[in-house]
Amino acid sequence: MSVQSLDGLVKGLHHITLVTSNQEVNRRFYTEVLGLRRVKLTVNQDDILHRHLFYADEKGTTGSAITFFEWPDLPQGIAGLGSPHHLSYRVPRLDALPAWASWLRAAGVHVVGPLPRDGGRVSLYLRDPDGVSIELTAVNDQKLTAADVAELGRDLPRVTAITKEMRLTTFDHASPITSDPKLTARFFEKFLGLKDSFSLPDPDERDTTILGIGNGAMPDFIRYLASERASEGLVGRGSVHHIAMAVEDDRDQLKIKRHLDDVGVQNSGIIDRFWFHSLYFRDPEGNLLEIATKGPGYATDESPETLGSRLVLPKWVEPRRAEIEAFLKKTDEGNPVGWPPRYPVTPAMPEALTQTR
Ligand SMILES: [Fe+2]
Ligand SMILES: [Fe+2]
Repeated sequence: MSVQSLDGLVKGLHHITLVTSNQEVNRRFYTEVLGLRRVKLTVNQDDILHRHLFYADEKGTTGSAITFFEWPDLPQGIAGLGSPHHLSYRVPRLDALPAWASWLRAAGVHVVGPLPRDGGRVSLYLRDPDGVSIELTAVNDQKLTAADVAELGRDLPRVTAITKEMRLTTFDHASPITSDPKLTARFFEKFLGLKDSFSLPDPDERDTTILGIGNGAMPDFIRYLASERASEGLVGRGSVHHIAMAVEDDRDQLKIKRHLDDVGVQNSGIIDRFWFHSLYFRDPEGNLLEIATKGPGYATDESPETLGSRLVLPKWVEPRRAEIEAFLKKTDEGNPVGWPPRYPVTPAMPEALTQTR
């Protein structure tokens, strides 16, 4: 298959999967503090004695789902090559950012910003209870100065609820790390039909650039932090496990699978994950990537009203429900993490490659 015929197949982000140490703290944070909905409570299909939790907007829209494997025994993750740095959710409007800052501070969460970023972007940064670095981004038509951004929240009344105007929508971007931006850009172009849109200085660290990768509609849904000094990371608690990009359907996914086979990129083959179909492979730095289909969707085995309210298991795992539930109960009893969490401090320079935890 020619590279041209891959153009437009990858539609943007599908979901981002991370690692949490405690499902209850995780649930309370993502639903009560960030206002998302749990749309699926299940187990990791490759490790069925551990949970897999999905949070998204009300409908489970493609590109809104953040998912977590619960692995209480993993060490704390370290961002680096193979272990992505942060992710960003888009919010509907600029004044949602000071509102989020007020709401999050009242909940005890450390935040940095809002800060003006490249283009018309303005971002607020925080960390979840496991230390995941999360950015909330609003996009303005024009570039704003620090003074403009400071002005945004000036007369804001105290925020006591997450309003419709604040709601997290879909992901703005995911930021893995690369030590070789040229090779990374070639990989996305030749193997996935995605463009290398720009390379900009990282506002938070010298000698680091931001490499934007995307398609015509979304030119930088992946924003690599690029530096020759980048070192090996470790996937653990509080880190991104993999980044999934969306394709429309099985046919488009198969085109990518065949192309990866033709050019010799090792991949998992297509796996039926029940709510979507998945294909896994790694970028040249070892970051785990996935191509997932938009359908069938989270409401395949639950009604839209009750999504995520009970433990659902893929059919082939259902016979082991009693064993799984007993194991999860034991895991919960032995889990030392509790609510309210002690939130990690967000470092002053949130997009710096090296951060103190
Ligand atoms: Fe970012
Ligand atoms: Fe995934």
